[in-house]
Amino acid sequence: MTQISVTPTLPTADITAVFATKEKTGFVISAGKLTSVQSKKLAAAAKSMKFSGSASELVSVPGSTISVNGIVMVVGVGENPNHETFRKAAGIIGRNSFGAKKLAIVVDDENVDAIGAIAQGALLGSYSFNLHRSESVSAKREGVKAIVLVSSDAKNPLVREAIDRAEIVSNFVNETRNLANTAPGHLPPAEVAKYATSLAKELKLKIEVLDEKMLKRKGFGGIVGVGQGSVNPPRLIRIEYRPLKPVAHIAFVGKGITFDTGGISIKPKQSMHEMKADMAGAAAVINAIAAIAELKIPVSITAFAACAENMPSGSAQRPGDVVTAYGGRTVEVLDTDAEGRLVLMDALVYAQEAKPDLVIDVATLTGAAVIALGRRIAAVMANSDDLRNHVVDAATRSGESMWPLPLPSEYRPKLDSAVADIANIAEPIGSALYGGLFLQEFIKPGQKWAHLDIAAPAFNSEGPFDYTPKGATGSAVRTLVTIAEDVASGLLKLR
Ligand code: BES
Ligand code: ZN
Ligand code: ZN
Repeated sequence: MTQISVTPTLPTADITAVFATKEKTGFVISAGKLTSVQSKKLAAAAKSMKFSGSASELVSVPGSTISVNGIVMVVGVGENPNHETFRKAAGIIGRNSFGAKKLAIVVDDENVDAIGAIAQGALLGSYSFNLHRSESVSAKREGVKAIVLVSSDAKNPLVREAIDRAEIVSNFVNETRNLANTAPGHLPPAEVAKYATSLAKELKLKIEVLDEKMLKRKGFGGIVGVGQGSVNPPRLIRIEYRPLKPVAHIAFVGKGITFDTGGISIKPKQSMHEMKADMAGAAAVINAIAAIAELKIPVSITAFAACAENMPSGSAQRPGDVVTAYGGRTVEVLDTDAEGRLVLMDALVYAQEAKPDLVIDVATLTGAAVIALGRRIAAVMANSDDLRNHVVDAATRSGESMWPLPLPSEYRPKLDSAVADIANIAEPIGSALYGGLFLQEFIKPGQKWAHLDIAAPAFNSEGPFDYTPKGATGSAVRTLVTIAEDVASGLLKLR
């Protein structure tokens, strides 16, 4: 794992990176701890390479240009950069520092309020996933070992605090990526539960894991039905974080399909392997509660991860089967590939027994959410406009892209079943909304609830960009942490 620290003097490093803004008259280097001679020489070198200071633009020059070791990088942040611009620029620095031992990032006094975002971008950009590579191969693919932020404000406790927060949040975003990147054969539901158990032990959080026997006995028909086609039995994980004086209580509920073949309604073979990340919602809620606990945010959290493997087999559930959700409602399974909502309905009903002030579910729920908003934006649905708008705003402040979709009650009759209380699908058009409407059926009157469909942003099938690697992205963790902070600060009132 990459280490991060802050110092007031320019250290000797393999890579020294500085930011540059774009101004009317050209670019301006944010010199920070560089001398004026150094920054002038660097500006001349960058200019000779046609550098303009646009956001995400990067040039590298030999350190000798300004009498330092190694390589010097200049990264553009454009005009009027905000925290996210810096987070992205730092991510680009991190991504271009693979294999290096030490990376120094110069932070100008003017940008010191963005230092947390810079730390986060650099740590997220330095992420590498080498679990399945042999040692000799993975050794060459590690992110930078140590990042040193260079700031004259290094001793300021607020700066330290911002960097500590960035380190904790980035670490759990990266852990979320690890889980969703792990090969599906290596991570059946019981292994997710093992990860959650060791994390809970480390952070002294209470945890309960319901195995297939308990799930059957207690009537979790959705989770049992989805899991019954697999030799790897399902698990329902519950983790509790209880601070001394909680401001409110939030329940997180995550979809944890460790592999989604579609079941008997089997998926086409193209990109089926990406369905190893169909547990990204579960990974996000497990790691978000861990981050919130480590940050000691005064909000009670209960995280639920509904884990199952959706396989076709002689014991798999069939299209047309009827299952009984936890709590007694019956569901006709018209499509075994709409399995996320089946495991979530059980977990949502179970979550509400804890009487939370707010329930947020996180799920790679529908391909339709990808069609609606493209590859990078999550869909947010909620049973109150204010809450939904708050989630979208919290996401924006966290550097995550989320956007509202409606829950039109006039569409609800399409989920009517000919034989059971409700069917698990309606029609392909607008299917992200039917996912939301289906889940809403399991939300009690008066219960505040938001649904994040992260099918698109949870997994990046294309090349890396900014601080986002190829593969699993750790989507929703940062937003969930921000929402907890908003509740703690009173920005979001739940009681
Ligand atoms: N896990 C998929 C959704 C998905 C698709 C996630 C693409 C990430 C990328 C989900 O279980 C699924 O298959 N949903 C179906 C629902 C349909 C049958 C109503 C879908 O979206 O096609
Ligand atoms: Zn599916
Ligand atoms: Zn799925």
